[in-house]
Amino acid sequence: MSNTTDSKASVSSGTPYGTIPPASPMPGRKPVSLPRLAQMRAQGEKIAMLTAYDATFAAVADAAGVDCILIGDSLGMVCQGRHSTVGVTMEDMVYHTASVARGIHRSQGSAWLVADLPYGSYAESPEQAMRNACSLMQAGAHMVKLEGGGWTVKTVEFLVARGVPVCAHLGLTPQTVYALGGYRVQGRDESAAQLLREQSLQLQEAGASMLVLEMVPASLAASITQELVHCHTIGIGAGNGTAGQVLVLHDMLGMNLGKMPKFVRNFMEGADSIKGAMQAYVQAVKAGSFPDNALHAW
Ligand code: KIV
Repeated sequence: MSNTTDSKASVSSGTPYGTIPPASPMPGRKPVSLPRLAQMRAQGEKIAMLTAYDATFAAVADAAGVDCILIGDSLGMVCQGRHSTVGVTMEDMVYHTASVARGIHRSQGSAWLVADLPYGSYAESPEQAMRNACSLMQAGAHMVKLEGGGWTVKTVEFLVARGVPVCAHLGLTPQTVYALGGYRVQGRDESAAQLLREQSLQLQEAGASMLVLEMVPASLAASITQELVHCHTIGIGAGNGTAGQVLVLHDMLGMNLGKMPKFVRNFMEGADSIKGAMQAYVQAVKAGSFPDNALHAW
């Protein structure tokens, strides 16, 4: 076979294995940054976040207009088939963060990338957290996320002082699912709600610029959002009063193999493609029609 035939074959064979072609950025879309997120909040524009774990889904989510992509340790369940996020390692997180970052950079994407510090990677000391945050940032993250309040304040301060943007995570914190006794709504009684309010303010004071509130009553999440000026709340099962929303990708694509959590909408219903489902999600979050407090919240 001649070289000519070979080169013709390679020209006509498309992009093997879904190789990501360089795409032009969404017209008029500025790269998402901390100042841009603050501007969105000030203008009352909701922040749309989705999880992604690989290059292709990340590039498609970006092209669909998703503002922030979370490389969540939920990959332990959806990619690795685990029962919880507890088994996810730093090595796993670096691998998936680098994959997502490549997808975004190669498609000239704009999304803000948040990567989870996994179980056991920040509890020993602020120094341990910094070392592991550096690995995620070097893999392409723009921000790291860690779970818990109170004891995490010193760590958040330490990271932020050294130039690492931090997203905190309160309410249902999946890494401590065994201590919490299951995936349950948090902050239901007044003392638990008050503790969440105090911890949120402390995390803002420490410099966290984003806060995921997971499975907390809608009224509590809305009041925490009002109290936090510099820290943008991102809700999941926390009602529609937060500054933004996040869902696990596989859940919103209807690919949850177990019982779909109450706070999820299957955006594949009525969509003709995965990108279409993601666009519908972004539009619903921005319009405030998702989540619907009557259906998706407590
Ligand atoms: O790991 C993850 O995907 C998360 C979201 C559920 C917020 O932390």
